[in-house]
Amino acid sequence: MESIKSEQVQVFNDPQALTLQAAHEISDLINKNNKLNKKTVLCLPTGSTPIGVYRELVRQHVDEGVDWSNVVTFNLDEYYPMDPLSKHSYRHYMQSKLFSHINIKEKNIHIPDGTIPLKSVDKFCEQYEQSIIDEGGIDLALLGIGRSGHIGFNEPGSSSKTITRRIVLDEITRKDAARSFYGIVNVPKSAITMGIKTILDCKRIILMAHGESKATVMKKCLEGEITPHVPATFLRLHHKTSFFLDKASAAELILITQPWLVKKIEWDLELTKKAVVLVGQKTKKSILQLETSDFHSNYLHDLLHVYQDDVNELCYTVFKDFMKRIYFNEKLMKNKKVVVFSPHPDDDVICASGLIQKLAKRGNDVTVVYMTNGSVAVSDLNLCKELRFIKLFPSTLFKKNEKTNEQEKQIVERNNEIDKLIWELSNKKGGSQDSVISQMLKGNLRRVEAISAIEVLGLTEKNARFLDLPFYRSGTIKKKTPTQEDVDIILNLLKEIVPDSIFVAGDLSDPHGTHRTCYNLIKDALNQFENQISKKSNEKEKELIEKKMPEIWLYRGAWEEWKTYEIDMFVPLSKSDMEIKLNAIWKHQTQKDKALFPGVDDREFWERARDRNIQTAKSMEDLGLPKFYAIEAFVNVDHL
Ligand code: F6R
Repeated sequence: MESIKSEQVQVFNDPQALTLQAAHEISDLINKNNKLNKKTVLCLPTGSTPIGVYRELVRQHVDEGVDWSNVVTFNLDEYYPMDPLSKHSYRHYMQSKLFSHINIKEKNIHIPDGTIPLKSVDKFCEQYEQSIIDEGGIDLALLGIGRSGHIGFNEPGSSSKTITRRIVLDEITRKDAARSFYGIVNVPKSAITMGIKTILDCKRIILMAHGESKATVMKKCLEGEITPHVPATFLRLHHKTSFFLDKASAAELILITQPWLVKKIEWDLELTKKAVVLVGQKTKKSILQLETSDFHSNYLHDLLHVYQDDVNELCYTVFKDFMKRIYFNEKLMKNKKVVVFSPHPDDDVICASGLIQKLAKRGNDVTVVYMTNGSVAVSDLNLCKELRFIKLFPSTLFKKNEKTNEQEKQIVERNNEIDKLIWELSNKKGGSQDSVISQMLKGNLRRVEAISAIEVLGLTEKNARFLDLPFYRSGTIKKKTPTQEDVDIILNLLKEIVPDSIFVAGDLSDPHGTHRTCYNLIKDALNQFENQISKKSNEKEKELIEKKMPEIWLYRGAWEEWKTYEIDMFVPLSKSDMEIKLNAIWKHQTQKDKALFPGVDDREFWERARDRNIQTAKSMEDLGLPKFYAIEAFVNVDHL
């Protein structure tokens, strides 16, 4: 099997670093060719992965004058059939993200045509291949990868000999696209794509992947068998291919899961725990049952040497460390000011209900801070239902004939307004922008759900703060670019409360990006908070400042969980704690049955939360640690 050279895989700390590197390689190539008076031929993808690359390329064109007049592009694919004017078309995507912002010549742009009559598609594909040859071949191809293992739209089953053709899309691909098409039924069933051979003929290839949803496919792509079942594996046959990954998409690679197999390791506590947990899982033994031979058979001689070959000492160190991190009630903070930041109204209860209940019981002053109004995830149907309720409401306030003429008039006028809104909502095209009034009403629905939910946990309306951050108020999936106005709102809250501890959603890869945006905004606000208090103080007050900076805990959103060895705070939940947690989650009725944006996981949010917390407890039990019904997990960090 063709194995990959380690230098072909680059793991970046975050998606931004990865996209910058890719953009720089492209612009360096264009600049170099421009100097030689040579054209540059690029193969370009669409999708969520390259958005940052295109943004940077546009910036480089505007700020640094990178000249695209001698660049020829070929896009990998286009849905079929597809109107180029549709906002779902890849033509529209390329135009809005890149082409309309740079000086590329229209005649140099090639994108498969989704309007070709079926009988002419083969001919069109032949011509597409010919045009690539006529341009002298592709110098550099930028690729993303689908969860099906596709590159371009070469779905599983595509051989290494394939060239540009029409292809039927895999169900995983259609499911992933469903979000932007507002439902799988609207996703086209086929596409026109360059073939694997067309891609392998490119002189240089960069495949980019970010986000935890790509971790499994990246493992298959880089470490599995080279096979048409995972078409991206063919890239390993091309020695000028680099794989640019972020930490989340690289998480399942041996390089990350067992780094000691590929490089010399400095054994810190986290890596030691990682190795011991892995050996425990592989041998199905608890930590304290592990023997020297178990470490030897997993090539961990080196780790044993660190403990003078005393396996008991090694295992006991790890066992004790885990025990120390179990937060029975009395270990939890008491009488402190705690802020739980919740990006949407429901992340708090999905991820930290157990913790919140316990913190409240221990006399902490808990504030749950809902950062966005969450309106985008409320369906129009849900709002219509509530509007009908509001319409009926006044009649319950008055007895028959008790209303004055003026009141009667007001009710009629208001009901007319409501009817108008119901009509608008019922006739709105799926996914089109919400009006300001529907955004507000949808946000209000989520607000009352959030209050009912924390009431289940023993808090009241007074414990809730709704920031309604402006970046989120676009009325559609695509959010606005966050600004200092967003940061200021958080900063003011920090200054007002001066919390002892804060809990933040620390997702690497939530599907909509809102969690990451909220994380970054809290990060900026904390930095500014620290700067402001340190400016106001002299040397003597330094200690005080440190005290003012809150202790930071991270939780993971509905999409992922921390690895056992990463967890700093295990909060055990009994069965009845879990029942309370589920009751709290169920109060978010607009997100129940089928949330508007559940992500790629078919389970409802409450099912995911329950399964995940039970699974964390199970993995503790398997390691020979105390047996709990369920566990919520948190990680402590010095800064964001
Ligand atoms: C798009 C394309 C696809 C995408 C892949 C990943 O032109 O060819 O192969 O690159 O589906 O999509 P995202 O980046 O949205 O995860």
